[in-house]
Amino acid sequence: SLFALSFSLTILLGWVAAADFVSPSSPFPANFLFGTASSSYQIEGAYLTDGKGLNNWDVFTHKPGTITDGSNGDVADDHYHRYKEDVDLIEDIGVNSYRFSISWARILPKGRFGKVNWAGIDYYNSLIDTVLSRGIEPFVTISHYDIPQELQQRYEGWLSPEIEKDFKYYAEICFKNFGDRVKYWITFNEPNVAFICGYRKGLWPPGRCSGSFGNCTCGGDSEREPLIAGSNLLLSHATAVHLYRTKYQKNQGGRIGVAMNTKWFEPISNSSEDKKAAERAQSFYMNWFLDPLILGEYPREMREILGEYLPPLPYKLGKVKPAIDFIGVNHYTSYFVKDCIHSVCEPGDGSTRTEGFALTSPKMNGISIGEPTTLEWLYVYPQGMEKIVTYIKERYNNIPMFITENGVGMKENLNLTTKEMINDMERVEYLRAYLDSLATAIRKGADVRGYFVWSFLDNFEWTHGSSIRFGLHRVDYDTLDRTPRMSASWYKNFIALHATKP
Ligand code: NOJ
Repeated sequence: SLFALSFSLTILLGWVAAADFVSPSSPFPANFLFGTASSSYQIEGAYLTDGKGLNNWDVFTHKPGTITDGSNGDVADDHYHRYKEDVDLIEDIGVNSYRFSISWARILPKGRFGKVNWAGIDYYNSLIDTVLSRGIEPFVTISHYDIPQELQQRYEGWLSPEIEKDFKYYAEICFKNFGDRVKYWITFNEPNVAFICGYRKGLWPPGRCSGSFGNCTCGGDSEREPLIAGSNLLLSHATAVHLYRTKYQKNQGGRIGVAMNTKWFEPISNSSEDKKAAERAQSFYMNWFLDPLILGEYPREMREILGEYLPPLPYKLGKVKPAIDFIGVNHYTSYFVKDCIHSVCEPGDGSTRTEGFALTSPKMNGISIGEPTTLEWLYVYPQGMEKIVTYIKERYNNIPMFITENGVGMKENLNLTTKEMINDMERVEYLRAYLDSLATAIRKGADVRGYFVWSFLDNFEWTHGSSIRFGLHRVDYDTLDRTPRMSASWYKNFIALHATKP
């Protein structure tokens, strides 16, 4: 059929283009991790199975109006029951690493206030063993936006320093039970996004915000609460890393880091005001966490603008300098930035005090930074990958980096046949261009040690529910059948050409 022909042609072209990509030798260093990523809430389902407790997302998605298509993670991809066949799919892509997260409430249904759920420990032991048996390195996130609901109810979760005790207790269970086999740990995934969405915009659990942000009145404080949550997260991170370094790292020989959401912020003009605004935007977005963890203080722009408003850094950070062995870089898109101190800006995303008076948006003055996608925040700007990696390299003295997420999500065109739905040429183009840009940064000396495509299969995309698909495999949500997309074969070829042969 025509489809089959176009499919094989694209694969063929994929081969040729992937082969063209670098010559004569791969820019990716020896033992580079080529992987794919996921998180527990987004794929596992089984939300009440085998003793799992409720977490913040279970409760949030059950509130009407929170998720655009009304879906939730109760079943998701049912990966909990299908992980063996899913590991087959992952193995089939030829990756040498798989990033996934552990569900906190599956291990500790009530946090430190209840018992350990051994069924949860058994589950992750079995997942880790299955992954390792295929020669795939597990790369494990300890908390990917999720906390047991118990902690939310008892002390308001991230707003209380009590969470340090819970996270320490939980992280130690992970190190103790899995650390003999897990050599890469990420304490937290994207705390910047979690706290902007959860405490400034009110769009994610716990749904807090205040009138100072848009029309929002959720009974919070959009300026102060993200900062408080952030400082309690830094405290929890510092304590867990201290524990790992003093008690486990020597024997287990692993590394520990954090994963940040990153955007490349491009000044809308060459004016020094707009350039400074881009720097402020980066400080209030990414450096907010990375500066304290690596340099031991909040970024200068935050200190200058917020002054006493900034909660003090936990003194425990001083005991773990630097507080990460590597940075996990999640990168998808880039935004323009415009100065709002010296010129008047329309109110909008980012024009608040906590963003340092910089207006950020992928579109400005009628120009957009790259190709828009059907996902409103995602504009395709491949150069952003090289730029952000280089920025991190320079700011943090070339600390090791892993691109812990990169990919593109889209709405599915319902008029297409299933066969057409797996013909995801845009994703192939996106991945190719971003990997090319990454290769340039590596050639110029950035110490990048791995790259993970988000995600190996379609999954629950937070407020977008099941309506946005990021998978190298398509999931039919009626049957839960998985079908490899063209991007899966393309990535497989790419890895075969560029990975170190075992
Ligand atoms: C970052 C998050 O870590 C992941 O959970 C999410 O699905 C992707 N970005 C895509 O938005």
